Amino acid sequence: MADSLQDRGHWGSKIAFILAASGSAIGLGSIWRFPIMVGRNGGAVFVMAYILAVVFIGFTVMLAELAMGRHTSKNPVGAYETIKPKTPWKIVGYAGVVTGIVILSYYAVVAGWAFGYLYKTIAGVFRGRVTWETAETAFSRFAADPLEVVICLLVIMGITTFIISRGVQSGIERWSKILMPLLFVLIIFLAVRALTLPGAGPGLAFYLKPDFGKLDVKVLFFALGQAFYSLSLGMGIMITYGSYIGKRENLVSSAGWVCFSTTLIAFLAGIIIFPTLFATPGLNPENFQPGTGLMFQVFPMIISQVPGGYLFGVMFFILLLVAALTSTISLLEVPTAFLIDEKSWSRKKAAFVIGGAAFLLGLPSALSHGGLPFPTRLRFMDRMDLVFGNILLAVGAFLVCVFVVYAWGIPKALAEIASGNPRFPLKKLWVFNIRILAPLAILLLLVFLRVITG
Ligand code: PHE
Repeated sequence: MADSLQDRGHWGSKIAFILAASGSAIGLGSIWRFPIMVGRNGGAVFVMAYILAVVFIGFTVMLAELAMGRHTSKNPVGAYETIKPKTPWKIVGYAGVVTGIVILSYYAVVAGWAFGYLYKTIAGVFRGRVTWETAETAFSRFAADPLEVVICLLVIMGITTFIISRGVQSGIERWSKILMPLLFVLIIFLAVRALTLPGAGPGLAFYLKPDFGKLDVKVLFFALGQAFYSLSLGMGIMITYGSYIGKRENLVSSAGWVCFSTTLIAFLAGIIIFPTLFATPGLNPENFQPGTGLMFQVFPMIISQVPGGYLFGVMFFILLLVAALTSTISLLEVPTAFLIDEKSWSRKKAAFVIGGAAFLLGLPSALSHGGLPFPTRLRFMDRMDLVFGNILLAVGAFLVCVFVVYAWGIPKALAEIASGNPRFPLKKLWVFNIRILAPLAILLLLVFLRVITG
């Protein structure tokens, strides 16, 4: 993306853009958060709702954000301001910048856990057969150790800030070109192992056989929220990334690829987690409530059951860390691009100030798993995730739709999409989705959820 000589930059090619955008999208949202959401919201019905949400709403919003970004070559605040100058619309851009900082603050905590698990794996903590009990104890001990989690958070925020301050994301993206396919291969391998476990059946059924009695507004709401979260939508990341795409690139197929690869990784993560989990004697899929540490408990279990588990585990956590870092980078890039473009800050200053703020804001989240009593009682991180990761992303995505339809205008948006892509076979569907389906669905779910939860 932006290189070290210039504060703004351009993608080298379409593939570079797809990799960077998938880099932002693919990460802990798919591997850590998706299985938790599935476990808490009825299993297979959630999976179906999530896939529908990605196809009909996520893709629609992603294309809209990319078009806004490429049209204006701006960060979210600048993009709203350029298309509709001197109106309150730019507040939506500001809200996105703030949402991004808050999400970064607790996302970096989980990325820190991945870092912690990397050095634990290297140190041989998970040697031998890992059972549910040992995995659970290891995680709760680790997450409750205030010093350890804060140091891990500091490491992640430090690396992210350093990369953004130097504007060397392109280097990371070059690496992730090699590393992400490797992550994919490891995940496929683990999925095959999980599927062949004795007793994989109940987990697979929970994950893939829908029980429509479990379908309710809450399930739909969280499925939609998860679609936005995993695709990095609703806060301006794709506006910012779109601003670096050339006019000759095809936005439609780029968006399609990003949606597809993200969903595939999430789907496979579930294929690993649920069979492994429910092959554990004594765990009942019907009343199991996964905690925040779900993937950190289940992955060591399955890794300990593949040949060469030690090396495999080390590789897996390295790749998970890279996947998480390409997402924290994107989260920090939005506020940084904003301060550079709109407030003429230097890249260095912007990155350090925002990175520092996100670190401080991350402290209560890091300490909310037993590290300190007060944030733990508040369930600080879960609350942040509910408000910013679900509700505000949904509100942000809703406003993107309203903005494109009523402020920018569908014809102008379509003209932008047509650049680099003269044929757009799904045009009518996209117009219907952005005009009616997406905003209506988001609005109804937000309203009903409010009614139900009071
Ligand atoms: N989509 C990223 C992931 O799944 C994280 C993210 C969430 C980024 C929300 C931006 C906004 O890992």
